[in-house]
Amino acid sequence: ASTAAQPSVAPKPIIIAHRGASGHAPEHTLTSYRLAARMQADYIEVDVRATQDGKLVALHDATLARTTNAETVYPRRSPWQVSDFSIRELKKLDAGSWLAPRFAGERVPTLDEVIQMLKAERVEAPLYIETKQPGIEKAVAHLLQSHHMLRPGRVMFQSFSRKSLEALRRLIPRGIPLIQLIDGREAQHWDDQRLRQIAAYADGIGLPLSAVTKERVRAAHRRGLIVHVYTVNATHDLARLCAMGVDGIFTDYPDRPARIAACR
Ligand code: G3P
Ligand code: CA
Repeated sequence: ASTAAQPSVAPKPIIIAHRGASGHAPEHTLTSYRLAARMQADYIEVDVRATQDGKLVALHDATLARTTNAETVYPRRSPWQVSDFSIRELKKLDAGSWLAPRFAGERVPTLDEVIQMLKAERVEAPLYIETKQPGIEKAVAHLLQSHHMLRPGRVMFQSFSRKSLEALRRLIPRGIPLIQLIDGREAQHWDDQRLRQIAAYADGIGLPLSAVTKERVRAAHRRGLIVHVYTVNATHDLARLCAMGVDGIFTDYPDRPARIAACR
């Protein structure tokens, strides 16, 4: 069994398995998460949404069209919004065939199932949860608490929504990092004042690869913010980011041996 270290003591940059080991298996499936855990990713990223009946599920998109066979199973339910389906309906969907026939039978997992699977694997891989939809913070915190995971080193949170991070801040113990995600458009209007604002409620920023520069990493560090970068799959990018001193990277290939060599 592997136990990932806390971000403050892990060698930099920490490796975050983006949507699981999604370069090898369908994103946000138990197979993808299991692989990431076995590859000893430092954190496993889970994008979280809620079904119509309030179950927390692991899904990136707001709709089911891209990563399941919802269009075939429910042809009249366009545009297949996750929040329009009950968990029972969702569980009838195939979440693997879209990538390759050998993944047929994968299901959309609940967050609870992800945690249960990791426990069964006896792997203490911490989770890096993105709240993809506002209003789910209390349910997420409650579920993690029920699994004794609402503590530093076991979970960290990210969101594009400041409100979501502020809601989490009120719900979670100190020491669990909150990361403000910044998209490509916002990164074009980068300034130190924004960093100062973020530092008032979060512990770090998540930057798109295209927006990272040495100066920006330094500016964030000066404000006491850690810097995580999404999504880094090429070895030459990883080497460049290591040299800049970023604190973490999201990657679809958490197993790449080059990730270690690149940062030596
Ligand atoms: O969380 C970092 C990155 O995952 C944000 O982008 O679209 O992959 O959720 P996305
Ligand atoms: Ca994400």
